[in-house]
Amino acid sequence: MEKYIEFDNVSFSYIDEYDTDADNETVIENLSLTINKGDFVCVLGHNGCGKSTFAKLCNAIEVPQSGKVYVDSIDTSDESRLYDIRRKVGMVFQNPDNQIVATVVEDDVAFGPENLGVEPSEIRRRVDEALKQVEMYDFRHSEPHRLSGGQKQRVAIAGIIAMKPECIVLDEPTAMLDPRGRREVMNTVKKLNEEFGITVIFITHYMDEAVRADRVVVMDDGRVVLDGTPRQVFMQIDKLKSIGLDVPEATELTAMLIESGIDLRTDILDMNELVNEITRLTEAEN
Ligand SMILES: Nc1ncnc2c1ncn2[C@@H]1O[C@H](COP(=O)(O)OP(=O)(O)O)[C@@H](O)[C@H]1O
Ligand SMILES: [Mg+2]
Repeated sequence: MEKYIEFDNVSFSYIDEYDTDADNETVIENLSLTINKGDFVCVLGHNGCGKSTFAKLCNAIEVPQSGKVYVDSIDTSDESRLYDIRRKVGMVFQNPDNQIVATVVEDDVAFGPENLGVEPSEIRRRVDEALKQVEMYDFRHSEPHRLSGGQKQRVAIAGIIAMKPECIVLDEPTAMLDPRGRREVMNTVKKLNEEFGITVIFITHYMDEAVRADRVVVMDDGRVVLDGTPRQVFMQIDKLKSIGLDVPEATELTAMLIESGIDLRTDILDMNELVNEITRLTEAEN
């Protein structure tokens, strides 16, 4: 597997230039982590554990005070490569309203590639393609403020993919959306990963979203405390609870059933799986 983003023993704190006495609390501490090309990784953790800081370190919005971050082997502290890094790793944030700059959807999506100096005919092609990829092509002449939250967030994602990044980092892109908007955004990002091979780092606090990742990284206090497939991570119910996180409902219910003596698999992630497993058991008994 090819490495794409690599954190090598990274520590980071926000240094207060005006208050030199402030004890600059370490926000990211000796973090080492490799994200491979084509991966879909979810990052979980409670508020303030350093997820957004981690995201900003991925495309050189911040650089570490010690250790290194590499994007496709480029050291993010190399200022001469900033443009390359920003082209390779696109960022999507929580609030779509802060990311939409134009009054017509297709102009908004064109904004990024225009800034990169892409030729007009190529911009046209990319805008259409990006809007089709997020299933917002029919809304290309619409005014963004008339769209739902999920639709706006998909336009924001189209604006990023029109710049042809190899990786997108989404920092709680569904936090402000209703359940339908959340599903739309997750489905869109899954498709970008599966069909177009875009590497995805998806920060969320929704367990049902993390279940859909290839890999789940759980952060606490600036460190990685769990890292594995969704099944491996969500089986660690006590550990997750001890750092203030929930586990998927089905996983928790399974654990309770096992505790009460029912012989179930321990790695169940959703209700369908649980129902199937119970059906299998009852059929085996009859
Ligand atoms: N720009 C900033 N200046 C100073 N401290 C900050 C800044 N941004 C975040 N922090 C602090 O860094 C810690 C981690 O924040 P953040 O990365 O935003 O966590 P999360 O995204 O997991 O909620 C928090 O204690 C937060 O208060
Ligand atoms: Mg955050």
